[in-house]
Amino acid sequence: MAASARGGAAKAKGATPALRPVTLADVAAPAVDRLRTGITELDRVLGGGLVPGSLVLLGGAPGIGKSTITASALGNLAAAGRRTLYVTAEESAAQVKLRAQRLGDAALKVPIVAATDLDAVAATIEAERPEVCVVDSVQALHAEGLTGSPGTVGQVREAAGRIARVAKDRDVATVLVGHVTKEGSLAGPRVLEHLVDCVLHFEGERERAYRTLRAVKNRFGSTNEVGVFEMREAGLVEVLDASARFVSEATRAPGSVVLCAMEGSRPLLVEVQALVARSELVPPRRVASGIDRNRLALVLAVLARHGGIGLGSSDVFVSAAGGVRVDEPGADLAVALALASAARGVPLRSPGARRPQTLAPAVFGEGDDDFDAAVDRAPLGAFGEIGLTGELRYVAHPERRIAEAAKFGLEPVISPEGPVRTLRQALTAALGTGPRAKERAAA
Ligand code: TYD
Ligand code: MG
Repeated sequence: MAASARGGAAKAKGATPALRPVTLADVAAPAVDRLRTGITELDRVLGGGLVPGSLVLLGGAPGIGKSTITASALGNLAAAGRRTLYVTAEESAAQVKLRAQRLGDAALKVPIVAATDLDAVAATIEAERPEVCVVDSVQALHAEGLTGSPGTVGQVREAAGRIARVAKDRDVATVLVGHVTKEGSLAGPRVLEHLVDCVLHFEGERERAYRTLRAVKNRFGSTNEVGVFEMREAGLVEVLDASARFVSEATRAPGSVVLCAMEGSRPLLVEVQALVARSELVPPRRVASGIDRNRLALVLAVLARHGGIGLGSSDVFVSAAGGVRVDEPGADLAVALALASAARGVPLRSPGARRPQTLAPAVFGEGDDDFDAAVDRAPLGAFGEIGLTGELRYVAHPERRIAEAAKFGLEPVISPEGPVRTLRQALTAALGTGPRAKERAAA
């Protein structure tokens, strides 16, 4: 088809009438009603719900909860009177039923077919014409005419392309589930990203309760939004008060800082933890979990050069607690303070310890009614990018980050918004009397 279109362009000049451009202002753009999945966090990440006829790729490691979230979403849509279809290519219908039983009655209302043959799947979607369809997973489909086993690039590309055509023709909003390999790429399906309207990544560690869902591509919304979930006995539960959770779980031990992060348009408080230990290895270990490795390397270099804290002969571990990923330069300062605190063995506290505006019980734990003690124990909050010369740099939405921190009694936070201008000053403010104070005291 593409070849014939190109052939057309080669025809004699003037054979094809020219098109008439219109100004963007005059382009008709009818507002579409989104198909709400009833999972608030998922809808937000999608930009308000599924767009009819759109194609979504949901990637994530095995066991992260892809089948669970799609089954819940379809269940909610079915309960809301939408026509749905679940195509299971990986598990038997009985296995999917077992899962759905844990998720509740709505999930059991979803029509299901178990099939791996691409022709059969495409024909079924065409015949059923659901409003929303889930194909779990695209890697398990097999295209008859192609060589190669399911999951190979050729097969996956063919499967996705074929389903995309049916979905567009029939106006079926389709979610393709895809596995992500250990290396973090959708196995093969990286090649699918251009084909779909929206790419969602479901992340987190299987052993940990928290999972985050984020859009890495979205033709119908922002790619900044993130949803936080927790895997429970009865399926995935949205964590709407993620900040309260993470702050209450912050250890307040040396090496712990609360990062005032932005996840899209939403502020989120996340504990950043660091461990520094004498290394037996050359080069020493640098392990980052949930934090960008390159930013960690930069922070370590600036800490050594401008903060007087050289960790060149130490193993360094940094992680965002709860399996959350914070991928923004605004995390630099929190990482630096966590490292400094860990290296010095000094716990960091919120300097002001003023009475918080709202003291959510969750923040300080049940049965802890000694208010002053609780405020004393408020962890330190921080955010800001660190420049190569050791200066603190502005990051987006400072007022929202500060407001979120204040809500949980973390005041004042150390940030480029305050009087602190450099990393060195931040270390002084956070560690009390300067980074070298302890050594000087010991000398
Ligand atoms: P699953 O959705 O099958 O993951 P994926 O499709 O991404 O491979 O489920 C992931 C894990 O979640 C699985 O090990 C079992 C667990 N789980 C719960 O803890 N509670 C539940 O209600 C469900 C359905 C699953
Ligand atoms: Mg699955």
